[in-house]
Amino acid sequence: MHTSALFGFLAAAATAVLAVPQPDHRPNPHKAAVKCPLIFDGRIKSRTPVTDFDSASTSLFNPDNVKSSNLKWSQIIKFPEGEKWSRFDNRRHKPLEVTISDESVFKTQYGFRRAGLIFAGDTNTGSPASKGVKTLHFSVRQDSKRPLNLTHEYLNIWHETSDWSANQFNFQTGTINGQEGKLPKNTTLQVYYSKGNEPLRNVTKAVSNNNAGEGQYQFGILKKPTGTDDVVNKGYQESWIDEGQIYGGIFIEDSAGGSISL
Ligand SMILES: *[C@@H]1O[C@H](CO)[C@@H](O)[C@H](O)[C@H]1NC(C)=O
Ligand SMILES: *[C@@H]1O[C@H](CO)[C@@H](O)[C@H](O)[C@H]1NC(C)=O
Ligand SMILES: *[C@@H]1O[C@H](CO)[C@@H](O)[C@H](O)[C@H]1NC(C)=O
Repeated sequence: MHTSALFGFLAAAATAVLAVPQPDHRPNPHKAAVKCPLIFDGRIKSRTPVTDFDSASTSLFNPDNVKSSNLKWSQIIKFPEGEKWSRFDNRRHKPLEVTISDESVFKTQYGFRRAGLIFAGDTNTGSPASKGVKTLHFSVRQDSKRPLNLTHEYLNIWHETSDWSANQFNFQTGTINGQEGKLPKNTTLQVYYSKGNEPLRNVTKAVSNNNAGEGQYQFGILKKPTGTDDVVNKGYQESWIDEGQIYGGIFIEDSAGGSISL
């Protein structure tokens, strides 16, 4: 993993069938310990076959959403080559890659190309990760064989309200369409970041964020079209899309009392 980042919610309330590789018995030389209680653990075991993502009985994530109903997660997820571990992985973990193609249309959202993983236990309302002070960890890496087209705006990791009308926060890349920023702002969000396997450091002060409306975290890609004001439904997307974003070390820890894994 080349990049490691995490978001901390520092607020009082309501913030927020491929071949299975042989096990590698070397330890992760860069491993750092998770210090706080885990709320959700999305770190993928190295022996996990991709078909595990298709069934609620075997997936760490929701097998049905958010994706095209014509595609299974086993057609969307890849296990990339290259760097095996991110900072909080142990030797039994591996990264995953979420890909999009021309078929990545959710319901009738013809403007977007999207696929987003949701933790299996992250209920749309009443999720333990939607209240208190929580820290979301993830590492990201680019796939040179499936580059994003940065002329477009992408959501990579976000938290969507339970009524699906907005996102409380987005981790994004590409060319951001005009940011309206209309959500009320009275709680806080802080970003910690490190390159490679270095310890995480706070790179922003705590800034206003409001997780009212609860909802769910998503990990993947939502690619917006260009040339439209109605990004959900229309706009331009080129054909023959083959893009991916690699994630590792996904988990949410309980940061009550200021606990945080760096
Ligand atoms: C944020 O604002 C809303 C609406 O004014 C209020 O109900 C809520 O208690 C506030 N939350 C915090 C953490 O101050
Ligand atoms: C990137 O997106 C723009 C806008 O949709 C498009 O014109 C261009 O052809 C795309 N580039 C590649 C390499 O796909
Ligand atoms: C990071 O935290 C340290 C220690 O609390 C503080 O001195 C520093 O100002 C913070 N950096 C930012 C960017 O907020």
